Amino acid sequence: MIKNPEVKQLKDEIRRLKARISELEKTEEELKKAERELTRNEKIFRDLVELLPQTVYEMDLRGNFKFTNNYGIQCFGYTHEDIDKGVNFFQLFIPEDRERVKQNIQSILDGTALKGNEYTSLRKDGSTFQSLFYSNPILHNGKPVGLRGVVIDITDQKNAERDLKNSRDQLRNLASHLQSIREEERLIMAREIHDELGQVLTALKMDLIWMQKRLDTEQTDQLKKVQSMSDLVDMTIMTVRRISTELRPGLIDDLGLPAAIEWYCGEFQNRTGIKCDLDLDEKEHILEQDRSISVFRIFQESLTNVARHSKATKVHAHLQFDDSTLKMEIRDNGIGITEDQINSPKSLGLIGLKERVNPWGGEVIISGVHSKGTTVKVILPIKPGKIA
Ligand SMILES: Nc1ncnc2c1ncn2[C@@H]1O[C@H](COP(=O)(O)OP(=O)(O)O)[C@@H](O)[C@H]1O
Ligand SMILES: [Mg+2]
Repeated sequence: MIKNPEVKQLKDEIRRLKARISELEKTEEELKKAERELTRNEKIFRDLVELLPQTVYEMDLRGNFKFTNNYGIQCFGYTHEDIDKGVNFFQLFIPEDRERVKQNIQSILDGTALKGNEYTSLRKDGSTFQSLFYSNPILHNGKPVGLRGVVIDITDQKNAERDLKNSRDQLRNLASHLQSIREEERLIMAREIHDELGQVLTALKMDLIWMQKRLDTEQTDQLKKVQSMSDLVDMTIMTVRRISTELRPGLIDDLGLPAAIEWYCGEFQNRTGIKCDLDLDEKEHILEQDRSISVFRIFQESLTNVARHSKATKVHAHLQFDDSTLKMEIRDNGIGITEDQINSPKSLGLIGLKERVNPWGGEVIISGVHSKGTTVKVILPIKPGKIA
C-alpha cells in the first residue's frame, strides 16, 4: 500500500476528534451529576426552609419579595396569590417603625454588622405582633442586590418578659412597703415602751425613795426589801431603754446617722469582742430620716453577719458623704463570703440589704476573698442641698 501523507493526516485528525468526543462525553456526564447534586441540595434546602417554624424571605432592593416560605406567608396573614400580586416588605411593619426599618436596611447593605432588630410587625388584617428580624445582604458580583433573612415572632417572649418585670416590681414594692410599715411599728413600739413603761417605772422608783425616807433605821428588813425593789426597778429601767433603743435607735432621729453608727459600733464591740474601727466623715450631714434608717439597718445587718458568719477579729467601717452620694463600706478580716452565697436566692438578709436602697436608686455591692474577708459597699444618692 502506498503511504499517502494526506491519509495519515486524516487518520490522526479522526483520532484526535474521537479523543475530544470522549472528553466531552465525560464532561457532560460530570455536568449532569453536578446538576443532579444541585437539584438534590436545593430540595434539601427548600424542605428545611419549609420545616422551619419561622419566616424566611428574600427580597430585592425595592422590597419586592423574591421568595418566602409558607410559614412566613401564613404568619403575616397573606396568601400565595397576594404575594404573586405583590406585597412590599414595608407593608409588614407598623407605619411608626418604617423609617427605622429603612435606616437599618441601609446599615445592613453598608456592611455595618447588626444583630437582630426588633419591630412591631403588621399582618394583612391589621393585627400586630412583636418580631425580631435577622437579615443579610444578597450580593451579586460583590454588589448588594437584595436582602435575605429570618423573622422570629417574639410576642410570647415579650409578654413573659413584661409579666416577669411586673411581678418583680410588685414584689419590690411589697417588700419596700412591708419594710416601711415595720420601721413605723418599731418606732411606735419603741416610743410607747420608752414613754409609758419608762414613766411608770420612774414613778415607782420615786415612790420607793419616798418609802425609804420614811422608814426608821431599825426597820432593816423593810429597808433591805425597799433597796432590792429599787435595784430591780433600776434594772428594769435599763432593760426598757435597751429594748426601745434596739427597736429604734433614738440617736438616729436626735443626732443623726454617724452618731448612731458610732454608738452601735461600740455596742457591737462590747457584745462580740470583735474590734470595730470607724472612719466617719467629719462634715455634718442632714439626711432624710428614712434614708438614714435604711443605711443604719444595712450597717446593723452587715455587722450581725460579721458576728454570725465571718470568724473575723476585726471589722472596719467607713462612712463618707459628698454632694450627691453617701458611701459606706464595711470590711471584715474573716473567712470571706463566696460567690454562691452572694448570689443564692436563699440569702434573704443580703437580698434585704439591696432592697433597702432600691427605692432611691442606690446600690449594695457585696464581695469576698477567701480567707481575707468580706466587704459590703453601699452607694446611695442623697438629695442635693441636704448636706449642711
Ligand atoms: N461577713 C461575712 N463573712 C462570711 N460569710 C458571710 C458574711 N456575710 C454573709 N455571709 C454568708 O452569706 C450567707 C447569706 O447571708 P444572709 O443573707 O445575711 O443570711 P443569714 O445571715 O440569715 O444566714 C450567710 O449564711 C453566710 O454564709
Ligand atoms: Mg444575715
